Amino acid sequence: MRVCVVGSGGREHAFATTLSRYSEVVVTPGSPGIKGSTAQPATEIEADLFVIGPEGPLVEGLADRLRSEGRAVFGPGSDGARLEGSKAWMKDLVQAAGVPTARYASFDENETNDALKFLSTLAPPYVVKTDGLAAGKGVLVTETYFDAAEDVRAKLSGAAFGDSGRRVVIEEGLSGPELSLFAFCDGEKAVLVPTSAQDYKRLQDGDIGPNTGGMGCYSPMPTISPADLDEMMNKAVQPTVEELRKRGVDYRGVLFAGFMMTADGPKLLEFNVRFGDPEAQVILPRFEGDLTETLFQVANGHLQEPPSLSEDAMVAVVLASQGYPTSPQIGDVIYGVEQAREIDGVDIFCAGVNQNPQGELITGGGRVLNVCGRATKLETARDLAYKGVSVISWPGMQYRTDIAASIRIVDNKEEAV
Ligand code: AMP
Ligand code: GLY
Repeated sequence: MRVCVVGSGGREHAFATTLSRYSEVVVTPGSPGIKGSTAQPATEIEADLFVIGPEGPLVEGLADRLRSEGRAVFGPGSDGARLEGSKAWMKDLVQAAGVPTARYASFDENETNDALKFLSTLAPPYVVKTDGLAAGKGVLVTETYFDAAEDVRAKLSGAAFGDSGRRVVIEEGLSGPELSLFAFCDGEKAVLVPTSAQDYKRLQDGDIGPNTGGMGCYSPMPTISPADLDEMMNKAVQPTVEELRKRGVDYRGVLFAGFMMTADGPKLLEFNVRFGDPEAQVILPRFEGDLTETLFQVANGHLQEPPSLSEDAMVAVVLASQGYPTSPQIGDVIYGVEQAREIDGVDIFCAGVNQNPQGELITGGGRVLNVCGRATKLETARDLAYKGVSVISWPGMQYRTDIAASIRIVDNKEEAV
């Protein structure tokens, strides 16, 4: 089979590497770090299957355009992508489906006073979200009413996030550990990808500093049981798929559901309509068997075999450029990638990379490389990832040193050390 992967980051590199075990793969637009990259747009590429990585093209309707020409696509149309593209639409849908989620209300730019009134009926922490896509930066969680009110004004006026923010969702604040799961959905049914992954969102060790797209990740999480995952599938994912069907949405792709494990049980925080980045980098390579065939079945509405994953652990450490996330510096020559790749159990996925006229890899974005370690034990996978990191360098390279480090099992529960 010939597969076209759409996107240019570490997630798409992990897709390309995994799918190429069984298939011929092209990646658009890809990057100089990803084999098989082409500048040809997806709509001009001949392929048996299209796999769309990022949310942007899904929300904009790329899957619809490809499907209208009879192509098989892994990824929802713009109707299903609203689950991620509009938080207000998502909350209304999951509420109608009876999914446990935080109490909320949504307001548009003419409703600032109503929004502030609703805010004042809530107890801290206050949660204010942009309705539209905001690259993971549209959510404010604060203990202070004043900050929340300021944020509502800034978002609704368009000052903070332009049009993405002119509608906001205000939610009751929940507390508890967070968990994400992934499910394949073929339009009829959702099937769990049987693993869990933990993402590290903050820039610096110890979860401090600004939020990022994700500075590292590991999978599986040792304390999440299959029963936990089944409960969330039954209470949240399956009812959502039912509700989508009722509304005529034929959702074919992956659903990435984020939960908070509250004292009242798991509550749904968000849906994404694509794999996480860097979560994909620690999950996709562990698929056993032909992943292309599975994605093809999803795309055609007939997922037959539930996916099976290796029990190995994987850890991904993100190497980011100087100045990330506010003003990433690009153009620095990256040293040591090939040397790191030679280490057994180490894999490197390229995210924001480019090439200079001499053919050397240079930094080309904020998150630059994902250095992954894979082993039967999580600690070994972690050591391998950091061994890979130790031979890579460029000026001002940033990374966290505590990815998968602070996991200690106490009474069968994870604790930060
Ligand atoms: P979201 O993009 O909706 O998942 O929100 C991003 C992050 O904000 C989540 O991963 C949580 O850490 C936090 N968050 C979102 N909603 C809530 C909530 N209702 N209560 C507390 N924290 C939340
Ligand atoms: N790593 C989180 C995301 O992809 O949204």
